[in-house]
Amino acid sequence: MKNSIKNSISVLSISMVVITFITTILLFVTKVINKDNIFSLTTLVVLLALIFITYIFSIIISKYITTPLKKIERSMRAVADGKIINTKHLNEYKNYAEIVDVIHSFSLMMKLIKKNTFDLNSQQSKTDIILEHMADGVIAFSTTQQVVHVNKSAMRLLGISLEDDTFDKISEKLKIKLPFDKIMYLPNYKTIETKVDVNDNTLNIVFVPFFSDRLTPMGVIMVVRNITENVRLDNLRKEFVANVSHELKTPLTSIRGYSETIMNEDLTYQEIVRFAKVINQEANRMNRLVVDLLQLSRLDDKKVKWNKVMFSLEDLSKLICEKMQYVASQKHHRLECEAIEKIPNVYADKDAIEQVLINIISNSIKYTPDGGIIKVYLGYVGDRAVVKVIDNGIGIPEKDLERIFERFYRVDKARSRKMGGTGLGLSIVKEMLDGNDGTIDIKSVVNKGTEVTISLPTKKK
Ligand SMILES: Nc1ncnc2c1ncn2[C@@H]1O[C@H](COP(=O)(O)OP(=O)(O)O)[C@@H](O)[C@H]1O
Ligand SMILES: [Mg+2]
Repeated sequence: MKNSIKNSISVLSISMVVITFITTILLFVTKVINKDNIFSLTTLVVLLALIFITYIFSIIISKYITTPLKKIERSMRAVADGKIINTKHLNEYKNYAEIVDVIHSFSLMMKLIKKNTFDLNSQQSKTDIILEHMADGVIAFSTTQQVVHVNKSAMRLLGISLEDDTFDKISEKLKIKLPFDKIMYLPNYKTIETKVDVNDNTLNIVFVPFFSDRLTPMGVIMVVRNITENVRLDNLRKEFVANVSHELKTPLTSIRGYSETIMNEDLTYQEIVRFAKVINQEANRMNRLVVDLLQLSRLDDKKVKWNKVMFSLEDLSKLICEKMQYVASQKHHRLECEAIEKIPNVYADKDAIEQVLINIISNSIKYTPDGGIIKVYLGYVGDRAVVKVIDNGIGIPEKDLERIFERFYRVDKARSRKMGGTGLGLSIVKEMLDGNDGTIDIKSVVNKGTEVTISLPTKKK
């Protein structure tokens, strides 16, 4: 038979009926025997015993009914406190017809809660992982200006710790003077941006309010982005434009001055020829500059299609040395080219490598005082062919070496200009070698000389 609260109550009711019945009988018997209405002592004892038994019986039955209900109630309270509980311990009451449905519904509810909690947790951990691994910093502030979330990037970029847990503390550290309320009550989809410098980095900070629905503000989100590289590139671009303008202005001023003199003044034929020569020189300089700039611009746009072939680096180097003998001899230099060993052919764009070698050798010619020695050595290491151009010229100071490949960078601007340099030669060399899987390395000692080493692949990739 199924245990049931109904059964238990029936038992209790029957026992009450029985007690009432026995009491009536007892009263009746007492009346017959004693012929009066007074309870005999026996009757009283039996009656009390029966009441006591009924009391015990009702306690047992009430326990029987309330225990499972209490357990269910306790489990529900635990769930309300946010705990996930197991409903197995309620299975023993499944025979209670009245509460089996409650237990069943409770188990179902628990399953649903478990599933929702799992979904919520995995969603939360996904969001956490994304936030933690973002390169941008993110901080969320509550309406009371407390930090409710901060990711690692934000702490690293802003140099803050967990102790900086309010909007005020963080703003003070970054010296940002923006009222929190102004951000929080920004019109929909509007943001406030500002820039700060922290530990050599330039940071772009965007503040945006977030809402529970469209109207109620819930707090403010701060997004931090490192824009140091963008700022550096922007400065380089500005510097480049300024350099180009300056480089063009110098020869233009000369050309204007000399041409005006020729036009406005009474000059002898010799003077006119002398001035015209200067104009011609300056025009040539401008031409060189424009040619170099166009070449760099093509290299930047990756418009250059390298025509890579296998060729003899030894033959090419010797040919260039021959071609440059004349310029070298004008400064009474000794220019030698020598292959230490028989080197395999290299795989690169021949015209580009020709220009690379011309630029490097002409630098040695330019920056070596008259009567210098310039040696071009050829060899190979592993599967790379190597060319070394060594001069005994003025050398490059250590501090300038790392900037030597920058556009327009020159150790001595005046000297370079006098030599007809544009300050773009080595940057072109670097770009060309990069495009041909080549390398370049420069060692130098001031007043002793410079050693430029380039290497090129001897195998097709
Ligand atoms: N062999 C060298 N000896 C001394 N200085 C050199 C040498 N090669 C390059 N430099 C220095 O590097 C600078 C940049 O070279 P480059 O880019 O070719 O420009 P430039 O047009 O001035 O020759 C030169 O202005 C010069 O100061
Ligand atoms: Mg040069």
